[in-house]
Amino acid sequence: MITMEDIVREGHPVLRQVASEVSLPPSNEDKEIVNSLLQYVKNSQNPEYADKYGLRPGIGLAAPQINVPKRMLAVHVKDPSGTLYSYALINPKIVSHSVEKAYLTSGEGCLSVDRQVPGFVPRYARVTVKGYNENGEEVKLRLKGLASIVFQHEIDHLNGVMFYDHIDHDNPFTPIENALPIER
Ligand code: NI
Repeated sequence: MITMEDIVREGHPVLRQVASEVSLPPSNEDKEIVNSLLQYVKNSQNPEYADKYGLRPGIGLAAPQINVPKRMLAVHVKDPSGTLYSYALINPKIVSHSVEKAYLTSGEGCLSVDRQVPGFVPRYARVTVKGYNENGEEVKLRLKGLASIVFQHEIDHLNGVMFYDHIDHDNPFTPIENALPIER
């Protein structure tokens, strides 16, 4: 089981690496890794487990964050309408996106970043993500709102990009043009 001790923090070079594609069908080892990512985010949202194992709550986690430079991630998040997005994905890719942007009014955080980095992070308002599940079957997701933002944050990790790279540090709270503010 993944704990905070397994999660690498900013400054670790793996977070700046472009992760490699996973060969399909996934090996048992890769299946275990992607499932453990999902298990972490689920456990971290369970107050009892979070307390017992000292897990910082998260809604997404990418393999590079546990020092595995491979294209895998997990997301476990309920959007405000109550729909649960719970996925462990291999080789996820944004295949299309809206012109319209969106950002979380509260900014973003990351399990690999032990500090607050204030500012709006511009994202696409809607994305279509294609990837594979642990059985190597294709998964296609049409995402908007919070779920869309979480997937974009996690896919960034596979490309060595951190959320704060997108912040305009001179004007962190300047409303982003043509962008939908999203409350969490
Ligand atoms: Ni992150």
